[in-house]
Amino acid sequence: MKVLGISAGTQNGSNDAMCKEALMAAKEAGAEVEFINLHKLNIKHCTGCKACVMGLFSGRGNACVLKDDFQWLVDKMYDADGIIWAVPIFESCAPGIFHTVMDRFGPRLDRGNVMIGMKIAEQGGKPIDPKYLKEKVVSYMGIGGSDWATRIQCDFATQAMTPKWTLIDNEVFQWSLDIIMNDEAVARAHQIGLNLAEAARKVENGTLNVPHGIAGEDYKGDPGVCPLCHSKNFYLQEDGTAICCLCGTEGVMKNVDGKYVFEYDADKWVPHMHDAISGKFIHGDDIQNNEGKARAAMQTEEAKARKKKYREFISASTPE
Ligand SMILES: Cc1cc2nc3c(=O)[nH]c(=O)nc-3n(C[C@H](O)[C@H](O)[C@H](O)COP(=O)(O)O)c2cc1C
Repeated sequence: MKVLGISAGTQNGSNDAMCKEALMAAKEAGAEVEFINLHKLNIKHCTGCKACVMGLFSGRGNACVLKDDFQWLVDKMYDADGIIWAVPIFESCAPGIFHTVMDRFGPRLDRGNVMIGMKIAEQGGKPIDPKYLKEKVVSYMGIGGSDWATRIQCDFATQAMTPKWTLIDNEVFQWSLDIIMNDEAVARAHQIGLNLAEAARKVENGTLNVPHGIAGEDYKGDPGVCPLCHSKNFYLQEDGTAICCLCGTEGVMKNVDGKYVFEYDADKWVPHMHDAISGKFIHGDDIQNNEGKARAAMQTEEAKARKKKYREFISASTPE
């Protein structure tokens, strides 16, 4: 059983330390462990060229055109049965480097897209490595220096959602610049390592009960508010309805006896959950229809004239 720890903090800082604490626990539980600090890698931003997904949907593989260390990181991640992240909180959410990893995952490593790409490849295209469909478990720890921490768990679970890895823990440590001196927090990081190793063992044995979304019976984090994905982040709309920012379920948020209760139409929304395979296919169809419409609209003479107007108005400045 292999467990990979990834830190997005400063080298030898709090995130490295808590990631290593969790890895020590995983090692105790019998895992072969490896550690990566993202800042030691050269990872470029996704430019949005979509070449990866166009390749995937036309039987030409799912490679990224950027030349850097990202594929090395991807190979390390897909070689592991479980991954433990330790990530500093920046502006209440995950830092840019984490978002870059998340952007580089989608769409070419989105589980739904990979499943479609494999079917296309079977008809004579370049084969997609089956490792991209291997089950995996993942836990996240966000570490911050204050109480600005309200969006990081949603960012974390969004990262798990793209490859549809099974979520085990999703923890936030607030006011934690001195976290290595906080025995309770260190013990929690250790427990997170043990929980992850226990679940990674199930991946290795092929006994993991893969949930419909990312969170199922092996989820060990706090219950959150969304009964489907455990998210606490909701988009409140003027008409009184609310949308779960993670799984996209729409419903009504009520306060019952001092607790939030999110009510939704299960028949409609459970198949639609963004973190479920069925939801990924619905989203994929929506995008395909929209791409088709946009392509047709952009081929008109009017669209070409409008593009020309913007192209010719001004060029982007760069430092010389
Ligand atoms: C750009 C920046 C933004 C930050 N924003 C937050 C924040 O919104 N909330 C918070 O709790 N801590 C915030 N912090 C504190 C970091 O989370 C903290 O420095 C980090 O977890 C330390 O980890 P390290 O020792 O592993 O580098 C911020 C730090 C930086 C540099």
